Amino acid sequence: MRIGIDNRVIGYRRIDPSTQPERLYEPYKSTILRTPRKPLIQLPHTLSEVTGPLYGHNPIGETDNDLTRQHTGEPLGERIIVTGRVLDEDGRAVRNTLVEIWQANAAGRYLHPVDQHPAPLDPNFTGAGRTFTDDEGRYKFITIKPGAYPWRNHHNAWRPAHIHFSLLGPALVTRLVTQMYFPGDPLFPLDPIFNSIHNEQARQRLISRFDIDTTQPEWALGYQFDIVLRGREATPFEEAR
Ligand SMILES: [Fe+2]
Repeated sequence: MRIGIDNRVIGYRRIDPSTQPERLYEPYKSTILRTPRKPLIQLPHTLSEVTGPLYGHNPIGETDNDLTRQHTGEPLGERIIVTGRVLDEDGRAVRNTLVEIWQANAAGRYLHPVDQHPAPLDPNFTGAGRTFTDDEGRYKFITIKPGAYPWRNHHNAWRPAHIHFSLLGPALVTRLVTQMYFPGDPLFPLDPIFNSIHNEQARQRLISRFDIDTTQPEWALGYQFDIVLRGREATPFEEAR
């Protein structure tokens, strides 16, 4: 809880809009429909915004952060390790916070009724995981590198390979939903979602870093992806709020 010595509620710094996606970005078609037509009203942060939500319903299972061990067999594809730290606006570790991911399989197909494009499902891959950060704010997942997949935004539209992330942070206003990409993807210049973030440095913060020290010999490549919940260095949210 963030309460000042005079019992004032201490809010979080507002997001710097230059680090975030454009709310209306016409090449990304669905932003045309969902962008508010009227000016936004900024609400003050009160106790309900700067406290909670507190996680505590379902315990984390042993294989929740290992998406390659959730079924009887191993999923097909390139096994990878994805790890990083969750930091607040002052660079401090955000401990004990829930990190959730979801993603397509190696063929670029989601296990979801809406995804019916002609790529195979993998009976050994659900594509969802969750974990808590440790005392240094670090999380770790073992998974399969997702494939690129087509979407119907425009002719011949393909999403760069990505993993969706959701973080709760210490308060409602620090919740973050974003996407992590892989270095060197040839689809970056063509992807309206990636390019709806105009700030080059902010876009780069969504690209994970290949790391040979995280890589495990004869087993899996390693990628580092740090996430900053607020402030000037904030990781861009999936969509503007
Ligand atoms: Fe996706």
